[in-house]
Formats: sequence, C-alpha cells, structure tokens
Amino acid sequence: MRKTFIPILLVVILGSAMLFSSFKPEDKKDKTEQRVEDLLSKMTLEEKAGQLNFVVGDLFNTGPTVRTSESDKFNEAIRKGEITGIFNIHGAAYTGKLQKLAVEESRLGIPLLIGADVIHGFKTVFPIPLGESASWDLAAIEKSARVAAKESAASGINLTFAPMADVARDARWGRTAEGAGEDPYLVSLITAARVKGFQGNSLSDPQTIAACVKHFVAYGAAEAGRDYNTVDMSEYELRNTYLPPFKAALDAGSATIMTAFNELNGVPATAHTKVMRQILRDEWGFKGLVISDWQNIWEMTSHGYAQNNAHAGELALKAGTDLDMMAEIYLKELPQLVKSGKVEQKYLDDAVRRVLWLKFKLGLFDNPYLYSNTKTEKKQIRSKENLQAAFDMAQRSIVLLKNENNLLPLSASAKQKIAVIGPLGNNKEDMNGTWSFFGEAQHPVSFLEGIKKYAKGAEVTYAEGCELYSDSKAKFDAAVAAANKADVVVMAIGESAVMNGEGASRADVSLPGVQLELVKAIHATGKPIIALVSSGRALELTWLDENIPTILATWSLGSEAGNAVASVLFGEYNPSGKLPVSFPRAVGQLPLYYNHKNTGRAYDGNHSEPGSERVYKSRYRDVPNTALYPFGYGLSYTTYKYDNLKLSTDKLAPAGQLQVSIDVTNTGKYAGEEVVQLYTRDLVGSITRPVKELKKFQKLTFMPGERKTVKFTISPEDLAFWRADLTYGTEPGDFKVFVGPNSRDVQEASFTLLKDGSVKYESSIKN
Ligand code: BGC
Repeated sequence: MRKTFIPILLVVILGSAMLFSSFKPEDKKDKTEQRVEDLLSKMTLEEKAGQLNFVVGDLFNTGPTVRTSESDKFNEAIRKGEITGIFNIHGAAYTGKLQKLAVEESRLGIPLLIGADVIHGFKTVFPIPLGESASWDLAAIEKSARVAAKESAASGINLTFAPMADVARDARWGRTAEGAGEDPYLVSLITAARVKGFQGNSLSDPQTIAACVKHFVAYGAAEAGRDYNTVDMSEYELRNTYLPPFKAALDAGSATIMTAFNELNGVPATAHTKVMRQILRDEWGFKGLVISDWQNIWEMTSHGYAQNNAHAGELALKAGTDLDMMAEIYLKELPQLVKSGKVEQKYLDDAVRRVLWLKFKLGLFDNPYLYSNTKTEKKQIRSKENLQAAFDMAQRSIVLLKNENNLLPLSASAKQKIAVIGPLGNNKEDMNGTWSFFGEAQHPVSFLEGIKKYAKGAEVTYAEGCELYSDSKAKFDAAVAAANKADVVVMAIGESAVMNGEGASRADVSLPGVQLELVKAIHATGKPIIALVSSGRALELTWLDENIPTILATWSLGSEAGNAVASVLFGEYNPSGKLPVSFPRAVGQLPLYYNHKNTGRAYDGNHSEPGSERVYKSRYRDVPNTALYPFGYGLSYTTYKYDNLKLSTDKLAPAGQLQVSIDVTNTGKYAGEEVVQLYTRDLVGSITRPVKELKKFQKLTFMPGERKTVKFTISPEDLAFWRADLTYGTEPGDFKVFVGPNSRDVQEASFTLLKDGSVKYESSIKN
C-alpha cells in the first residue's frame, strides 16, 4: 500500500464512522459533498483528467477499437490514476484485484467504477428488453432488473449501462431489441421500473448497481433505421416523444445518463449544449453523471463537427459530457486545454465532482470491495430463485399472435407425434439474445428440451430444416419427412441474437435466409403448424399470417426460453403479452407506429370509395396503411368481451377529473390476464395531435366467466403536450377516449376539455 493512501483511507473510515453515529439525512448529503471537495482539492490536473477516463476491460469489446490493454499496461494506468473505471469485465475475484490496485497503489487511492452492459439479466439471462416489455408488467420488469443487479453486483459490477430509453418506431433499427418499443408512455413506465429495479432504495446497498439511462437523445429516430444515422426533428417532437422516457428514468433516480451516437439537428449529441446544459441540467435539475457512449467524443471529427481531438474534447466537456468512454481524449487533452485557458477549470472540476460523488454514493470509498464478494457471487449466480424469476418473465413476454381453431394449447399427456422443425428449434445460444455477454451459450433451455420435458405423452422429433441465414435447402427433405410423420409441427424460426442490437440494422425485416421457403415446404405437407417466431424487432410476417394457423412471438427469451415456451404450448401458462411495437405488412411501411398523425388526406382503408377519392389519399398502392399486428395486440387462450364504456362526465374542467369505466368479461374457458388499454385523441390542437395516444393501462386477472368493471381516471395533466411555442399545457376542445384490448379494436366515447391550462412539466408519467 502506498503511504499516501493510508491517511486517506483512515480519514474516510473514521469519517464514515462518525457520520454513522450521528446520522441525519441532510447531514449525509453535506458530508458527501465535503468529502468530494476534500478529495478534489488534493488532485492534480492529470489526476482529474484520469477520473474522466473510462475504458473497456480485457474480456470483450462492444465497439470498434480493440483496446491494446495487455494487462500490464492496463494495470500501470490504474496505478497512475489514469483510469476512473473499467467496463465489461466481471468476477468478484478479478474486480477485487483491480480495486486493490486502484486503492492501494495509486497516489490518491480512488476506487474504480466497474461498469457493464447488464441489459437483460446477467448470468441468469432474462428476455431481451423488447420481449420483457411485451409483458406490460411493471412489477415483473422491475424484478428482472433487481435480479440482474443482485447477480452482477456480486460479481464486482457497480454500474450498468441500462436501461435504454430510446423510443423505437422503425423495425429496421437493430437496437429496437434493447428498448421498450414505440410508445413514449409505455417506454417511460418501463424505463422507470428498470431504474428502480437496478438501484433499489440505496446505491450503496451491495445488491444494487447504478443505472445509466441511454442514449441521450433521439437515437431511436436514426434516419431509415440505420444505426448511428442522422436525426433531424422539431423540438416539440423531441419533447413530446423522445425526451419523456429519459425524464421518467431520472425521476426514478437514475444516477447516470449516456449520450447518443447520433447528431441531433446538426450537432452530435455528445456536444449538444442545448439538450445537456439547458434541458438536462437547467430544466430537469439532473445532478448525476453524464457518460459519453463508446468513442463518441472522438467521433465528432468524423461527424465534421470538431477539427481534431483537442477540439472534440473541448466541445464535449463544455457541452456537459462528464465522462469519456473509450476515446481517451479527456485524459490526453484536458490538462493542456485547461492550462491554455481554452477550457475553464470549473468544467473539469464539475465533471470530476460528479464522478467522485457517484463513487461515494456507491459506498466504494467506505468499502472498495463492497461489490466483489466471492461468497455472495457463488450464491447469487444462476440461483434457483433467479432462474425462477427468468422463467416467470419469459412466460409473460410471449405474445400469441394467432390461434386459429384453438390449435393451442396442446395436451401434454396426449399420445402424439410432435416434430420440432427450424433453425431455432434446438438452439441454446441464440436464446440468450443480443447484449448478453455474461450469459453462457450452453446454459439456456432450448425449445426442443422444453417441449420434451412438458410433453410427457408425446414422441418428439427434431429437424433443423435450414440454417438461420444460409440459402441452402439441403436439409429441407429431412424436415419435410419429419413433418410427414408428425401429428403437429412446431416451427422455430426467426432471427439469431446477432441480428439484433447494436450495428444490426436490417433493410429487410422479414425472415432471414430460406426460412420462409422452409415454412412453405412444411405447410405443403398439410400438417397443422405452430410457428414460434423469435426476433428482436417487429418482423414482416404477412405470408405466415395468411397461411399458418398459430403464431407466437417468442423474442429471445433467455435462460428459461424452452421451459417458458413449452409451458405456453401445453397450457400451463395462458399467454398474456401484448405487442410494444407495430408489426408491419411490408418493410416499405417503416417507420410504422400507431400514434401517427392524421394528415390532410387520411386513408381509412375503404377500398370501395370511388377511384379519385381513393387515389389522392395518404396511402400505398400495394399494401394497407395499417399494421399487420397493431401496437398493444396479443391474444389469449380465453376471450374477452369489452362493453358498456362510460364516462363520468362529458365535460372535463381544468381542475377536474374524468372517470372512464368499461366492463370486461372473460368469455372463454381459461383463466387469464388481460391488459386493458386506454387511449385518447385530441381532435384539434395548436400543433396537430396523434390519432391515438396511450394514456393508461391495467393488467388484470380474470377467471372464466368473471366480469370486472375496469376504471380509469383522466386528469387534464394526462392531456398536456409540448406546443410549437415550446410551452407545455393543455388546450380546450374535444377529445376522444378509446378503451380496448389493443390500439385497433377499441370502443370510443367523447368529452370536452373546458379551458386551457399550463401544466408544470413534472413527469406526467403515472399509470
Ligand atoms: C453502446 C452502448 C454501450 C457501450 C458500452 C456502445 O457501443 O452504444 O449502449 O453501453 O457501447 O458497451
């Protein structure tokens, strides 16, 4: 241990002991600030720059530059205080060793942030975020993040780069898989639930980790769904659609936020003073840490926004990016930029303050090894309880898209022959999905394993049929032969894990390779087919919808994929998922989202209109405008009847409330859960308004025959929006309210909002 560290550690230990004995909440805040200031006053310019330098570890890379971090060089950088933290490493023993280096062998003994992309589980892998979002189950989603936090924290990690709050309306964009879909309200609630799950009630709890909501901002609106592409949008659209989930995450306490790769209206997000200084800091009062995305600062030269590295560093820091991930520009350029007066020292100091604050809040100064506990690690990783939570979440994520003649559920005891066919039928690795570097390829339960386990009376065979992408049909014959011998075929098709996530945009979002041809060949046998379609986005499934009786969206379901799917196929679990994204009829419809504007020439799909009426409408000649499967859609083994929609008043006063009620009856044979959804439409606005906007939902259980009167309350705040003059508020006038099982099949009523009012922009994100 270096001499300089001992007194600091003593001061820290004694300080925290004193603090503990006379603890008052307001004291704690002041003490942390005091501790930060004390430490800051001891730091050289170089050490400060080092505290802003965040680098990837030597286990795996998630970006373009392979870091030449031979352990020695890496360790030396820690000793010299040139690294604030390392990410995408894990392991209690390994991270403990690195913390030891930092606290015992660097001059100031500042512990490390250990970051990781803990996106959907850790070693116990949960469904990809888009899949989880299909559950519309906030408690289950929060629990999923809590389990991920427990496992990863035990493995030395104290910060996750999640949740992703980007609203995604273009299925071509691969990162759709990492978020919560196309609707700002649903994305907001889910993102907030994830933050709560990761962070719990205290950052210094060894079972929680700091969240990093990302990517700030409008990354999901990349032109043509191509990753990293340009974004140009009005400020009111930004505020109405893309910012709310970030605000919700920060209101839920997210300790950090990550900048985006895209430029926004001509300025790279990492140097966007307006969004970071004005909106994030001044309007929202965010006090936490802003982290750049991978090499973002360096990329400003490619954007054509910075002349060189030094200029990029100057622009990013001044605009409000605190931490430099992977560009090493702050480390190399900031000391000189400050010395030369190009960057005022206050910018550097503020950024360092926020890093130190986070490290204090995480409890790292009190115990640098808090998160690196080999015993807890062993207990936590893939524990029975965690796998059970992953199973439960996977069941809830499955969406039943079609079930003609109630082909499902199958009987588990029947003596039947089931052929599992398709490239994802006996596949483990792809069940883990995108962004699951910690989940091991051999761990997930495959569909075949799950089906064999559940179908006690059946003879289950398997044929791959074709590979995920290849155009070879060499295995078709064997698959057709297997189908011919079977009573029922379960086809497991869709995307591989690497077809989703970062850098995984697709221009054609249909089934890859020759998979559709395989489905057609099996269909020609005349056997009943159940299609399990796994994907990280909304796929174009038009042929399947027209020809295959039963279709399930099975995303990438994680460690328990096969068990969860089998429990649904054999009726142990009645599917309750609802789509968080609209499934298109054709790729050319993209971007496609239910909450679009009406246009001046709206087309309602009525082909019987006279030609001239039909032609000059906002439509395609070849496909309808509508989604194949709309937002909020998902079937069940039971059926629900919606009737008796009632409003408590048809006039809503500015301080008033409107009660909306509807009777929902389970008219089928099975108990089930139904997501009852409420949408509104503001008919006339000072800027045009979407044709529908989700405002509330409830997920409720119904026994067979059970009828419930489901009640919602609408307040004027629920109807507020950002206007062209950038004020936020409501406008008087007529509204429609819609209630139903999805965004399409709704009942409607009308009311009038009586007087306008300006509403403070807190977070109108309450369900
Ligand atoms: C991604 C981020 C991720 C980071 C670190 C980047 O390429 O855009 O979402 O957190 O890498 O792995």
